[in-house]
Amino acid sequence: MIFFEWSEDYSVGDDEIDSQHKNLLGFLNKYYNAMNKGRGKNIMDAIFAEMKAYALYHFQSEEQRMEEAGYPDLDKHKKIHAAFVGKILEFEKKRDEGDLLVSVNLAKFLNSWLIEHIRGEDKKYSPYLTAK
Ligand SMILES: [Fe+2]
Repeated sequence: MIFFEWSEDYSVGDDEIDSQHKNLLGFLNKYYNAMNKGRGKNIMDAIFAEMKAYALYHFQSEEQRMEEAGYPDLDKHKKIHAAFVGKILEFEKKRDEGDLLVSVNLAKFLNSWLIEHIRGEDKKYSPYLTAK
């Protein structure tokens, strides 16, 4: 089942970044589905690890693209990414401490963060990327 569907409204006008954002939504769908089906801790942890690794890779490549494009708010954007990573590490810690609601809270957080971040902050670099 698809919980989060890509919309053209999320496009930053760059195929590579758009496809990475689509992949992130794909991971989020995978996570939601597994949660919905009541999958066990091992499976949930594995999807989480996969999603986290992909997000780190994506942030790195997005930051590199912004740098190449001479995006003036790169530092601010990097800080937002770093804050996100910090939040993810917090969730991971809570999970390891046995917090049973972590999956639900994490999924909610990722959903609103992704959508708001893509439509807000990421859209701001769009004109710089597409001007190249
Ligand atoms: Fe971003």
